[in-house]
Amino acid sequence: MCVCARAYSPLGPGVVFLLCGFACVASERALVVGDSWASYSLQSLQESCDSITEVENRGIAGTTAAQWAARHNCETDSSSQCCQSSKSCSLFDVTFEPGFTYAWVSIGGNDFFEMACSMDVNRLTSVQQSIEQVLADLQFLSANTKIILTGYAVPKGPLTWHPSPACSSITALEPLNAAVKRAAQAWGATFVDVSESMGGNTTHWSQTDFFRDSIHLNAAGYTQLWSTPALQEAFQCVLSNARAAGILISFLMLGFAVL
Ligand SMILES: *[C@@H]1O[C@H](CO)[C@@H](O)[C@H](O)[C@H]1NC(C)=O
Repeated sequence: MCVCARAYSPLGPGVVFLLCGFACVASERALVVGDSWASYSLQSLQESCDSITEVENRGIAGTTAAQWAARHNCETDSSSQCCQSSKSCSLFDVTFEPGFTYAWVSIGGNDFFEMACSMDVNRLTSVQQSIEQVLADLQFLSANTKIILTGYAVPKGPLTWHPSPACSSITALEPLNAAVKRAAQAWGATFVDVSESMGGNTTHWSQTDFFRDSIHLNAAGYTQLWSTPALQEAFQCVLSNARAAGILISFLMLGFAVL
């Protein structure tokens, strides 16, 4: 729900709480962070989700969970993928005021592709630990932010820039997505499985019209992604009856308070 309302509710009932609650409902900000799946989503989350009024997109194509976990320092290594056009792979460079209600974290894919989609248990554990480090940092920097991870959808075809048998399999991303899910669960973050959201499954590639290349979504793909019911729920995109009733009651009480 609302960070502001949570922070001030100990002050008790009254106008402050209500006004604060309204201010909150009116400005739900979301942080989008991680790799190209995050970066290419631009502001699309905001367009597909009524509750979100602002998206801060800190995604950088090509970046790994390991880099984000290491809070990559661009002053000592400016040639890194992390440091293109004065960006950074460090959550410590993000401004967390006035706060984010939600954060979507998309990382792990590039770590996996660098190993040609073939990771033994130890390497998968290492990716999981990197993701966990990022979630730990995020929770440290912004305790009230609800963190959401999705992993990646089944591609629309073989990952041709990594021409390996493993990267050519329809189920190539399954072990990676499982590692992302374990990391999310370890930190109480929300994991939404979107692997089949583009029409693919364990035996069929995803629908081509949602992709700009074998793995990256186009605008229609992001609209499709955000329409996943469990994601709509996670970001509270739809005003539920209960929430709508709560807002209505707040309006009425505010009316009385003003009188
Ligand atoms: C996978 O998707 C194809 C095409 O949409 C469909 O025909 C098939 O039944 C699906 N398989 C499973 C296991 O859901």
